Amino acid sequence: MSSLTTDVVVIGAGAAGLFCAAQAGKRGRKVMLLDHAKRIGGKILMSGGGRCNFTNMYAEPGNYLSANPHFCKSALSRYTQWDFISLVSEYGIAYHEKTLGQLFCDNSAKDILNMLLKECDAAGVQLKTSCVISDIQKTTNGFQLQTTLGEIQCESLVVATGGLSMPKLGASPFGYKIAEQFGLKVLPTRAGLVPFTLHEEDKTVLAELSGIALDCVASNEQISFKEALLFTHRGLSGPAVLQISSYWQPGEPVCFNLSPQQDLLETLQQAQQQQADTQLSTVLSRIYPKRFTQTALDYFGLNNKPMKQYQGKQLHDVAAAFEQWSIKPNGTEGYRTAEVTLGGVDTNQLSSKTMMAKEVEGLYFIGEVVDVTGWLGGFNFQWAWSSGWVAGQEV
Ligand code: FDA
Repeated sequence: MSSLTTDVVVIGAGAAGLFCAAQAGKRGRKVMLLDHAKRIGGKILMSGGGRCNFTNMYAEPGNYLSANPHFCKSALSRYTQWDFISLVSEYGIAYHEKTLGQLFCDNSAKDILNMLLKECDAAGVQLKTSCVISDIQKTTNGFQLQTTLGEIQCESLVVATGGLSMPKLGASPFGYKIAEQFGLKVLPTRAGLVPFTLHEEDKTVLAELSGIALDCVASNEQISFKEALLFTHRGLSGPAVLQISSYWQPGEPVCFNLSPQQDLLETLQQAQQQQADTQLSTVLSRIYPKRFTQTALDYFGLNNKPMKQYQGKQLHDVAAAFEQWSIKPNGTEGYRTAEVTLGGVDTNQLSSKTMMAKEVEGLYFIGEVVDVTGWLGGFNFQWAWSSGWVAGQEV
């Protein structure tokens, strides 16, 4: 087999790898971008329901989880959401804010993937798909890779292999293995931004609510998210659940306030005074979908009777049931449906300015393989762009 020589090899042609390769190519570096998948960009195309939530106007370090919360600051400030938005605008891609600063393409996620591919093309990046790497060794001035394309020699090696979520789209633990091979610590990984599954006793009842979405505040001891909760036939989902799942540990309860806009006790007390003969379920059905109200009353073990028959304490109990619903999930749906992987390459061993391993000259880690995980809402792609950009200036 032939032996190829290049300046930079980027492993993984996802969001971070494509962006980094284009930046390095623009600097005049000869770049090869390798991916084991036949088709690239699967996650970008699927993201944001096919419209790619490509960044968030309010992205800042506080929107990221990491064992070292300071690590992401440098990259995020050197290549910001506004830089990426300018690039998107240069390409004439139409976009809109959906909610909470989340920017989506008006047309299709394809616009973002095509933009990245054009950037790579213009920068002379050689993209090779279906390329399997079997071995990586350090040489005196770089790295030597054994691949299905033959042997490849490079000065800089960028690992952009992402996390473990969605194995169907090409996810693999390869990046973590490379880190370990070169003596870097990998922090334990787990699925994030992922729906909850439920214990059988909860699931049997709540599955009846499948398809119903409610505004809520989802909280645990660390954090709260005011977003929508979605009941599914498998358990609980929706943005509020995905967000809190990244902060959840097995065995912990999650608390939902299902009346985030109004003081439910006050509403119930008013109804008792003004519509004493009205049933509780009727009062609640003005706030919640009917199908939800009846099932919720049964689930919370609350009697349904005319408002006048409730004593003060009982009204408190009704309000508390809806405003402080505490439930212990059974688990999560795991990597099969998770949007991201928490944990990964320990940031203490990387330079936050360049993403290079402190102890291994020329070896870089970017994107989701690193222990930096964003909230739902465009933050993960912003991390891919920012970390990819800073490494792209150095490799
Ligand atoms: P990414 O996973 O994108 O790319 C890794 C690449 O490495 C893949 O192409 C893979 O094939 C390749 N690879 C893996 N192992 C390899 C090996 N052994 N050899 C060679 N190549 C290998 N985020 C966001 O901000 N907004 C959004 O709207 C969404 N939506 C969304 C929807 C869904 C369904 C998912 C699963 C995820 C999202 N995300 C998201 C998260 C976002 O997609 C994710 O954080 C980034 O794609 C991470 O970019 P990376 O480039 O680091 O990894």
